[in-house]
Amino acid sequence: MRATAIAQPNIALIKYWGKRDLERNLPAVGSISITLRDLYTEMCVELDEGLSADRLTVNGAVDDALLPRLSACLDLVVGRSRPCARIVSRCNFPIGAGLASSASAFAATTLAAAHAAGKSLSIEALAGLAGQSSGSAARSLYGGFAELENRGDAIAVRALCGRDEWPLSVVVAITETGPKAIGSTEAMEISRKTSPFYSNWVERQKDDLGTAREAILKRDFEQLATIAEHNCLKMHSVMWASRPPTVYWNSATLRCLESVRELQGAGLGVFFTIDAGPQVKAVCLPEYADDVRAALSATEGVDDVMVTGLGDAARLTDVA
Ligand code: PMV
Repeated sequence: MRATAIAQPNIALIKYWGKRDLERNLPAVGSISITLRDLYTEMCVELDEGLSADRLTVNGAVDDALLPRLSACLDLVVGRSRPCARIVSRCNFPIGAGLASSASAFAATTLAAAHAAGKSLSIEALAGLAGQSSGSAARSLYGGFAELENRGDAIAVRALCGRDEWPLSVVVAITETGPKAIGSTEAMEISRKTSPFYSNWVERQKDDLGTAREAILKRDFEQLATIAEHNCLKMHSVMWASRPPTVYWNSATLRCLESVRELQGAGLGVFFTIDAGPQVKAVCLPEYADDVRAALSATEGVDDVMVTGLGDAARLTDVA
């Protein structure tokens, strides 16, 4: 009745922004992501008939912020008539700050809960369940490069390229550790309802996905860099033009982009991407990771820098 799983967060190079079906949490667009190796969330789920309510501790302290969504995730995976659960979470990076902590948390919870309940589910089924809790979580069930497809009535993910088949590095520049002002589900709905650029964003995503897929197959860093930066800036433009606008960036975010532009000007293979938060992720060829880390560490307003390679799929670490 107890299982523990670990999952890594993933960051999208071609972004998911907008929901086609809010109730089933189906994305309006496909997305392509990379899973990160050195950031992790571990989730231990223990189903206990003796408990009267679900309980959650995060890094050793009681924390109820994520509990309602985690309880809903357990209902989905185990069933509504399930016993209550003791959930113990450990995470080695800031939570709710635009570093995809929900992706790793829900991927690990889905996997651990299925095993705690004695259910043996395929990776496709697990991805479908994780994706209902957090769209991007479906991608953390896979390692390396993964594509979440926007088709049919279910969430479908496929592996595009293993982490060792194209080893890239990611330098994460943390510019603020506090939780973001507005959650991605709410912000996506505001964009869908009010942004004049939203329909164009949805229509053009197919082209961006095709270009990125081709770049990954050819291992063409320049092509991937160009389309990933374009797609990221387009997603943020959709948000900025919403009413009210959603602006996740701070001044250090912009300074990091300038640092990346300088590195590119000096001939380094690096590009940026930014999610629903002010952190900047600089994806680079491994030989440039030290230079990129040094440049971002020296950028005014950067609190911390983490460097990682590409990671594995979510995995079970203990079942009792
Ligand atoms: O999975 P959610 O609901 O946290 O949304 C993720 C949204 C972005 O991180 C901005 C983009 C993405 O594809 O991960």
